[in-house]
Amino acid sequence: MLQELNQRFAIGEQLKFVSHPSGLVQGKIDTPKCSGSFFLLGAHIAEFQPKSQHQPILFMSKEAVYEVGKPIRGGIPICFPWFGPNKSDSSAPAHGTVRTVVWDVQETKLTDSSVLVTLGLRSAPYRLSLTVVFGETLDVTMLVRNETATEQTCEVALHTYFQLGDARQASIIGLERTEFRDQLTGLIHPPTGAAIQFTEETDRVYRGGVPSVTIKDPANSRSIHVRPRNSQSTVVWNPWIAKSQRMSDFGDDEFERMCCVETANVAPHNWVIDAGNSQSIGFEISANGESQS
Ligand code: BG6
Repeated sequence: MLQELNQRFAIGEQLKFVSHPSGLVQGKIDTPKCSGSFFLLGAHIAEFQPKSQHQPILFMSKEAVYEVGKPIRGGIPICFPWFGPNKSDSSAPAHGTVRTVVWDVQETKLTDSSVLVTLGLRSAPYRLSLTVVFGETLDVTMLVRNETATEQTCEVALHTYFQLGDARQASIIGLERTEFRDQLTGLIHPPTGAAIQFTEETDRVYRGGVPSVTIKDPANSRSIHVRPRNSQSTVVWNPWIAKSQRMSDFGDDEFERMCCVETANVAPHNWVIDAGNSQSIGFEISANGESQS
């Protein structure tokens, strides 16, 4: 399989398919602009680091499990066609079904020294494709087509884990004027007018689209910018102390070095996709030093 993948889709030294120590197939990217990697399992983007940065942009847990049928803790898991627990079947997996199955490679190409990769999955009643451009920025687009003759309702979240120098010093800017649902209490809160800071377990669904979200990370002397497309929800999550201890695939102190800012369309902003139609969601991530922000 690896040999065939490399014959069809490798791009010189810039994109190669390798066997990860777990046995999973991993795409590895190394260009003058960035390094990165992804797994076919879940179309999971695991690493991205522009050559201008000294630290990875994406957080990966040291306790992550790499096994078909299980989600990978860190990077960018894809939550689809539901977010969180399934509303009508409590035995169904959290965050949907597509993050734990193996996707296909559909296309790879080099454009302007950036590597473009498209992965695909048929997951009835949908056909999904994820196009990722690894360049100076990371650009991700997920396209969902409803292949049936009836309307379909679904949720999607690009569940991005960002690496932080120190979550206690970090702040999230761009959601000050957006109401949110606190997932821990179920309560809806009006806009706070203030940047988000992490001082406890934080699990919020912000309701309404925003043009950009900035993650200020003074401990790493940098800011990360997320520019969402076709997204009406942003999920902000940090498990903090007790929940970190409860998660078997996450280190007890790893909450200090990460946060999730998820570009999403989740309730009450679910997608309703007409018969035979498609919807897309995406974002661009870039980073720069604090002095230039
Ligand atoms: C977040 C949710 O998006 O994902 C949290 O808002 C959840 O409630 C977290 O705990 C992690 O989910 P999972 O299924 O990957 O452990």
